[in-house]
Amino acid sequence: MSKEIEDHRVLNQSVNEPFSSVLSRRISRRGIMQGGAGLAAMGLLGGFGLAGCSSGDSNDNGGVGGGSPEVTPLALAFASIRGSRTDAVVVPEGYVAQVLIPWGTPLDNSVGAWSADRRVTPEYQAASVGMNHDGMHNFALSEESASREFIMALNNEYIDQSALWAPQGGPTNAKEGARPADEARTEINAHGVTLVKLALGSDGQWREERGSRYNRRLTSATPIELAGPVRGSDYVVTAYSTNGTRTRGTNNNCANGFTPWGTYLTCEENWPNVFTKASDRYPDDDRLGVPTGRSRYGWETAQGGSNGEFARFDATPSAASASGDYRNEPRTFGYVVEIDPYGNTASVSTETAALKRTHIGRFRHEGCWPGKVIEGEPVVFYTGHDSRNEYIYKFVSKAKWDPQDANRPGQDYDRLAIGAKYLDEGTLYVARFNADGSGDWLPLTPDATTRDGRPLWQALNLANERDLAGVLINTCDAADFMGATPMDRPEWGTVDPSSGEVYMTLTNNSKRTAEGTAATYTNGGSDVDELGVGYATAPVNGPNPRPDNEGGQVIRWLEPSPAGTRFEWEVFVFGAAESDADNYSGLTELNQFASPDGLWYDDRGDGRGILWIETDNGYDKVTDYTNDQVLAVVPASVSRGPGDKAVIDAADQAQLKRFAVGPNGCEVTGIFATPDKTSLFINIQHPGNWPADPGANVQDATVAPSGEIRPRASTVVIRKRDGGEVGV
Ligand code: FEO
Ligand code: CA
Ligand code: CA
Repeated sequence: MSKEIEDHRVLNQSVNEPFSSVLSRRISRRGIMQGGAGLAAMGLLGGFGLAGCSSGDSNDNGGVGGGSPEVTPLALAFASIRGSRTDAVVVPEGYVAQVLIPWGTPLDNSVGAWSADRRVTPEYQAASVGMNHDGMHNFALSEESASREFIMALNNEYIDQSALWAPQGGPTNAKEGARPADEARTEINAHGVTLVKLALGSDGQWREERGSRYNRRLTSATPIELAGPVRGSDYVVTAYSTNGTRTRGTNNNCANGFTPWGTYLTCEENWPNVFTKASDRYPDDDRLGVPTGRSRYGWETAQGGSNGEFARFDATPSAASASGDYRNEPRTFGYVVEIDPYGNTASVSTETAALKRTHIGRFRHEGCWPGKVIEGEPVVFYTGHDSRNEYIYKFVSKAKWDPQDANRPGQDYDRLAIGAKYLDEGTLYVARFNADGSGDWLPLTPDATTRDGRPLWQALNLANERDLAGVLINTCDAADFMGATPMDRPEWGTVDPSSGEVYMTLTNNSKRTAEGTAATYTNGGSDVDELGVGYATAPVNGPNPRPDNEGGQVIRWLEPSPAGTRFEWEVFVFGAAESDADNYSGLTELNQFASPDGLWYDDRGDGRGILWIETDNGYDKVTDYTNDQVLAVVPASVSRGPGDKAVIDAADQAQLKRFAVGPNGCEVTGIFATPDKTSLFINIQHPGNWPADPGANVQDATVAPSGEIRPRASTVVIRKRDGGEVGV
């Protein structure tokens, strides 16, 4: 169930050459590939190994990728489950599900045990698992033990104030008046990232290892350094950091990513709303939606503290210059943050082993995922901006991949120095999706030529052609000028490590209008090329073909080379209710879904992996039938024929299966499995009345409580009763 903490105002409205009816004008990809008029004819394949393009091949995927003739696709060996609307997790026959590290689980022995009536203090929250679990990833301590123990890095996206303050009957002065300092501190500490060591017991239950040296929290108050082109620039000078090299906190950490060198990426999504700026606003304050009135939780109203502890959330200028106030504080947020989960601090002065990698752009990042890693080629990362009619981006490193930099699990060395090598120098691109199924990556560099023929630095009113920091601070306006394609709220991405094919969820878009309508613009603007102005509404285009899109879709694209600037895209599946007229993927009761969000390509070798799709749904025709869910499909088992609107169509219904359903009120998000695929980890975020025992940490996730309890967002581990691989 979608919970509206997110700011889904349309902050971008650039129309960027809307495709007038992509689906009708577009030549079938299968036709392109078989006819030799596609990437191969463009000379772009270059040994990339595009699979499934041989004529007459029974495994033909229609050309974009997926299975190859030599590979036998996996078969999903569970029966698709029916929808559910209960206060419990539902899994297929033969599976079990346990609760793990719910909000408030202590990480060390400095605080007492959790209890259902626990009053949470700033100190307790800083030493326990944060709230509303989201993206997560596992980091092995050794190759040999990786499926039995690891360090979990977990995002805590935002807070549920009613659960947090339940023992006192709710938050104090939530909407007006000054927030008590310790309430603000507790809420600030409930956000951020949790690092915790987990281990599988001989009883088949996973547990946290309290007191492990790896356990720690990064909160919305933790000192974090800035890295990359924005570091040390005038744009990020504050009273806290007069040389513009650091800030405090990471906030609204939604989805995640990871790097081949063993670090965690956590992504700042709906951070603008924890700030306020009443006057003297920058174009990027408007473009990203920093509020002019009270912030979401009113932290700026708390009194006391030192060094601007609370004042920093009010970015209204109050001093003669930026070094005397917090006018630039919002410019220290909106980044991808790199964390060494093993805790090596050699590269940082803040002792937090975390850096904001500013070269990956500044916006409402959902997540950040590495592309296929190839020796001697740049390393690339894909990231999307989750707001209506915003964009998809790719970062390409300047450094070429050296396999010597690959993670050495458990060893202590300077991973963040390797991160600097690959993430602080490179090129950020934004995606333009063309109607014919091709696409282009448009560079966001000061000297790039905008669609109206100007150098980008001039269009952005920057001081000179060397101001890369200025481009990155204004990433969204830069993307507008270049002619990026406005999307239906990009959420998670994932990459098939065999083919390099990228999948991304586009969750929904109530501001997508019909073909032929004119775009409208945010913030009173009349053109997306105005600074501080984005698209409010935008007409349908190729990968976003449905007006007032409530179902969402999953798209995929393939690039001849990850570092290249061309790609080929197609829609993989459209979400819809079974009865919808635009149920283009032919979904049935057993797999209807809407608002795809979490996504993970579970690599089982040779392109035989399972694509897992998680939902965060607010579309009543689906919520009336089921709570949020996890679906599975083996991409190599489905193909797109001539004229099909998506890879999955009515003929493929047996291949897309509902695997799990969450409890009432929740969103299902975050996903990975142990390397041996015997334990699948997901997160239940903002449940309404779950898990059953409000005082227990580890417990059965499939049991509903008997009455009203204090809910706790939690990780859930799904395993087979017989201990075998999940899914097959
Ligand atoms: Fe935090 Fe876009 O989901
Ligand atoms: Ca603009
Ligand atoms: Ca999400």
